[in-house]
Amino acid sequence: MVVGLGSCGIAAGGHKVKAALMENLKKAGLKVQVSDTGCVGMCYSEVLLDVHHKNGQVYTYGNMTPDRMPRFVDQHLTQGQPVAEWLVRASDRALPDDSFYAKQKRIVLRNCGQMDPEKIEDYMAHGGYQALEKALRKMSPDQVIKEVLDSGLRGRGGAGFPTGRKWQFARGSQGGKKYIVCNGDEGDPGAFMDRSVLEGDPHNVMEGMLIAGYAIGADEGYFYVRAEYPLAVERLKLAIGQAKKKGFLGQNIMGTKFCFEMKIKEGAGAFVCGEETALMASIEGQRGMPRLRPPFPAVSGLWGKPTNINNVETFANVPWIILNGAAAFASLGTEKSKGSKVFALAGKIARGGLVEVPMGITINEIIHEVGGGIKDGRSFKAVQMGGPSGGCIPAALGNTIVDYDSVGQTGAIMGSGGMVVMDDTTCMVDIARFFLDFTQKESCGKCTFCRVGTKRMLETLERITKGQGKEGDIELLLELAEKIKISSLCGLGQTAPNPVLTTVKYFRDEYEAHIKEKRCPAHSCKELLKYEVVPEKCVGCTACARVCPVTAISGQVKKPHVIDQEACIKCGNCVTKCKFDAIKVR
Ligand SMILES: Cc1cc2nc3c(=O)[nH]c(=O)nc-3n(C[C@H](O)[C@H](O)[C@H](O)COP(=O)(O)O)c2cc1C
Ligand code: SF4
Ligand code: SF4
Ligand code: FES
Repeated sequence: MVVGLGSCGIAAGGHKVKAALMENLKKAGLKVQVSDTGCVGMCYSEVLLDVHHKNGQVYTYGNMTPDRMPRFVDQHLTQGQPVAEWLVRASDRALPDDSFYAKQKRIVLRNCGQMDPEKIEDYMAHGGYQALEKALRKMSPDQVIKEVLDSGLRGRGGAGFPTGRKWQFARGSQGGKKYIVCNGDEGDPGAFMDRSVLEGDPHNVMEGMLIAGYAIGADEGYFYVRAEYPLAVERLKLAIGQAKKKGFLGQNIMGTKFCFEMKIKEGAGAFVCGEETALMASIEGQRGMPRLRPPFPAVSGLWGKPTNINNVETFANVPWIILNGAAAFASLGTEKSKGSKVFALAGKIARGGLVEVPMGITINEIIHEVGGGIKDGRSFKAVQMGGPSGGCIPAALGNTIVDYDSVGQTGAIMGSGGMVVMDDTTCMVDIARFFLDFTQKESCGKCTFCRVGTKRMLETLERITKGQGKEGDIELLLELAEKIKISSLCGLGQTAPNPVLTTVKYFRDEYEAHIKEKRCPAHSCKELLKYEVVPEKCVGCTACARVCPVTAISGQVKKPHVIDQEACIKCGNCVTKCKFDAIKVR
């Protein structure tokens, strides 16, 4: 049996479920092998529990709790009858959640949820370290680079730069010492792809780094992982120790001349430290601030030495490419975007979790088929792709193909894979304000336009959402956005206005309603809401008046009540309380 103990499994009570399971197994006198695993992807159904039978049948239970353990152990394990109503996936029957996996193609996540990330033997049983062995024994560094080039793999950290080309530059750089850096900073709100990969399959990322090290001629690697990911850090530490013992790290790896050491540097949670030059400054112990490029890291990176930096997911693709060949990878996806992409589905989506889909799939397919559509039967309004650097793509463009160019044409970016889904109750002006609030706080302060310009944009958006918008505010936002984009040194400032630009482009009417009519069409901006009693519906039960914290509601028993607009603080208590649907929100 396998218990889901990724971060979300733990947050949902995975350890308590496991303890209850062990207790019930003991009571029933059953000897069952129980192990842990990382993220399975179905985060919406945690705690997840897999039962693997010797005959090959596999059953996955979702939403497990300690209370369910006695019945589960008795019915499934003792009597051999799976508890049908708790199953989310099973090898012997069709279930509604099968559509969650139907369109997925799992390369990066192939082992996540399938093995114990704390056991190197499990990784090796799944083909682990065979790609490294193939590269070291059968391929020259140039052949490895060619394979990665031919695969069409592009960086998964946001910019989508061809990985093989980057490796070529680093290999061509002169200077004895070279470094490999793995970027696991992942600071975008709503993103958890890299965390899940590091927690669920740390050896796979390490193997990708080792292969990169061999290809460019580096002998040292750094994992830069945010300190808010303690489980990922713990599992990486464990994995590094295990790989050393097996001879996959250290001197003369697998008996060859290749030597490589790995270290972990925990980031302190600044979004800008995900930017490669700031990240390297941070590893060196300096303040994490971006610097001008060139020189690029491939020429002068960590401590002035040639350095190759890639994202967690980029490295996680490499062992699969080496083992299965460039052609197999390139057969997936579109002309300029090959392979698969991992997305973290979050927000108002029915099946929030971690998914990996082939490039070329549409946004609608991801949201409606893989993600099961919008929560609570509401309608799909937009999706924020690429985190705070990305943009809002409206439902009308849901048929957009997921590849670097098509997503870029909408004004959003593919980014590292955060997908925050919004329904009709989301105010697009407020969403733009939310993301700008984030980037404004995270600006390192080096560039005036990024430091001050984002502040002015944020103040304008705050005014608009409070009903204090003025004629000309939209034009002001657009002008500031343009100036910030062209005058900022790093990607943070260059992309910070994207959420505003895309929401103005696709939802300008919402901005105008806020500014001209002092109205929030999504009924989300609290200060623009107006609560009114509909006299024809009100029976005068007084329930609303009794829950109003500022006694803004008055009226006689059995007579229509009225709300004093000056006194109302828009808490919404009255709407919830009225059984006659007599209070309207405008
Ligand atoms: C503000 C900012 C934050 C970034 N955060 C990350 C991050 O968390 N993870 C990441 O891999 N790349 C991040 N990047 C991109 C990196 O600078 C770099 O391009 C990337 O790590 C290269 O790896 P790749 O080629 O494999 O994508 C960020 C860039 C900027 C400007
Ligand atoms: S653009 Fe912003 S975050 Fe980037 S270096 Fe300039 S001030 Fe710092
Ligand atoms: S709770 Fe509804 S029906 Fe009762 S007094 Fe208030 S508005 Fe009227
Ligand atoms: S972390 Fe448990 S399924 Fe995603």
